[in-house]
Amino acid sequence: MVSYTEDEAKELQRSALEHLWIYTREPSDMAEKGEPHIFVSGKGCQVTDIFGETYIDAMSGWWLKNVGYGRTEIADAAYEQMLQLTFMPSGSTAPSTIKLAQKIADITPGDLSRCFFTSGGSESVETALKLCRAYHRRQGEAGRYRFISRMGSYHGATFGAMALGGSPIIPRDDYEPLMPGAVHVPQPNPYRCQLGGTTPSECAERCANAVEEAIKFHGPQTVAGVIAEPISSPTGVIVPGDEYWPRLREICTKYGVLLIADEVITGFGRSGKMFASEHWGITPDIMTVAKGITSGYIPMGGAIMRKELADSFVGSDKAAFRHIITFGGHPVAAAASLKNIEIMETEDMVQNSAAMGQHLLDGLKELKAKHPIVGDVRGLGLMCGMEIVKDRETKEFFPQEARLAERLTGQFSQNHLHLRGGNYVSIMPPLCISRGEVEDVVSGIDQALSAVERDLV
Ligand SMILES: Cc1ncc(COP(=O)(O)O)c(C=O)c1O
Repeated sequence: MVSYTEDEAKELQRSALEHLWIYTREPSDMAEKGEPHIFVSGKGCQVTDIFGETYIDAMSGWWLKNVGYGRTEIADAAYEQMLQLTFMPSGSTAPSTIKLAQKIADITPGDLSRCFFTSGGSESVETALKLCRAYHRRQGEAGRYRFISRMGSYHGATFGAMALGGSPIIPRDDYEPLMPGAVHVPQPNPYRCQLGGTTPSECAERCANAVEEAIKFHGPQTVAGVIAEPISSPTGVIVPGDEYWPRLREICTKYGVLLIADEVITGFGRSGKMFASEHWGITPDIMTVAKGITSGYIPMGGAIMRKELADSFVGSDKAAFRHIITFGGHPVAAAASLKNIEIMETEDMVQNSAAMGQHLLDGLKELKAKHPIVGDVRGLGLMCGMEIVKDRETKEFFPQEARLAERLTGQFSQNHLHLRGGNYVSIMPPLCISRGEVEDVVSGIDQALSAVERDLV
């Protein structure tokens, strides 16, 4: 392993503060805290920083390190592909890319069958939006341009994707005006149902009905698609009531609107099924994927379309889908992805996600019973969330001055957990996590909550 002296580490930190934009962080704040935190190696669920401290990565990088760190088989697969062919000539493809498209068609639900590869989640969402509008044009319905998404969702950083949803950590006002035609409806969060539902089912039905109302209000002839994450992450992992997704499917079919399941986080085993859409037995018209498709070993994503719809882009030059992403379907990324999926399958990681996810959720429920600042815990598979509140009765959050996020994140770190604190805490460790490591995660969160409670309550 490469090691660094203290001086080298400090020099790297100084250089990063001067030359890098680190996502969601501001340089003067990092400098004050002796950051950025620099990591140099990882194995399984553990990551080691430049000063030799080891942490459990309870966020899987950016919710993507599904098979865990340090899988040399993936590096070998990428290396072997690099020795053979590192890019395909224009207008052609490569065997690893074809094999991956076939594999994805095999493991995704229903007749999702044709994949447009990209190099990440935002491009996958952007591709899905373009596929929707282009599809409707081919059906003679060029007036369908609007997209319905949910408040609090996150679908990416590009202009189209940014116009959808609205994550609390990425305010959009610096970049407006955004893509026209975005319509926002409530998130089916049973803990804080915006539409007054008092049970998960009631909230699910009311929020799904809000989608139908929005379609009727704007006119179905103007609506191209509905996009939603099966389980939404930015506001603390929203698992909708069981009625939600089947109703969305029904509504979209009824009005000829395409349903996009954004599985960029939920895909590839995260929720205890290979794809979260499977929990509710639905097939979206388009599924967007990224992150876990390679467990973050190399950038890749995709938008996968149902056969019946994808066929409308086949048959003539005029029908073709004209959209290019240079690095989409890169043969090296495809080889890495195939190996990543093989590891997931041969080591039963999806089943482990379901079993360890339940163990994690049980542990978090015990923490809720013990800590008054835990308002809610919820989750499915290794996608668990907590809401931290000042007052359980009113569900009021701590005020900004309490610096909850900073305190919690600092305490997690002191307890050797790499985990972001705040009003919402999303806990998503790698799918290879063991029982003992789950217990370490729960115990680290327990200690951190106790310390924060001592200061704030
Ligand atoms: C559901 C969802 N969609 C899309 C994206 C955008 O993906 P990327 O950051 O790879 O562009 C993200 C990123 O976190 C996501 O969570």
